[in-house]
Amino acid sequence: MEIRQIEKNKKKYLDLLLLADEQESMIDQYLEKGQLFIMTKEQEEQAAAVAVVTWESSCTAELKNLAVAKEWQRKGLGKAMVEYLCQHFAKAGAREMIVGTGDSPLTIPFYEACGFIRSHIKENFFTENYDHPIWEEGVQLIHMIYLKKNLLAIPGNIR
Ligand SMILES: CC(C)(COP(=O)(O)OP(=O)(O)OC[C@H]1O[C@@H](n2cnc3c(N)ncnc32)[C@H](O)[C@@H]1OP(=O)(O)O)[C@@H](O)C(=O)NCCC(=O)NCCS
Repeated sequence: MEIRQIEKNKKKYLDLLLLADEQESMIDQYLEKGQLFIMTKEQEEQAAAVAVVTWESSCTAELKNLAVAKEWQRKGLGKAMVEYLCQHFAKAGAREMIVGTGDSPLTIPFYEACGFIRSHIKENFFTENYDHPIWEEGVQLIHMIYLKKNLLAIPGNIR
């Protein structure tokens, strides 16, 4: 698998982006200003995984979207993408990577397995910002749970 950044025609990857964030208008709020990365099998066009990261300050990068195609899930691709992004943004000067997600048994354990720890909560984020209720594993998502990972110890961090 190889990971590369995509600068143009980012909406081409909308189907995958929607797996992680099911409302297109929310994706539109970060896709253009964010950096889009895709993971593909060598030489192939079709992405097995995508991720979007924004700079929230000069030292904080936020993972806004991460999705692995259904047929590729639970094979280590998501974790490999997160490791790549942490190294990439550490080298670019980030002190920390943050990520916000619903209080879901599908995502929190994944980010914890990637070395993130819980940080803070944005109350009622899903009910106030989405035009329809979002359900995962039979549970309605209400609050946004933020997790963070310290990047200072990553070799090559310029800070
Ligand atoms: C969440 C997601 C990105 C994880 O990517 P992945 O490639 O499937 O996960 P990995 O194989 O890299 O998992 C690494 C570890 O995370 C944990 N993990 C991953 N998915 C999990 C799940 N559904 N439940 C519990 N733990 C999980 C496990 O510890 C796993 O290691 P293991 O497979 O050896 O047990 C992927 O399932 C996905 O794209 N889901 C749909 C979109 C989405 O919800 N994105 C996140 C939005 S915030």
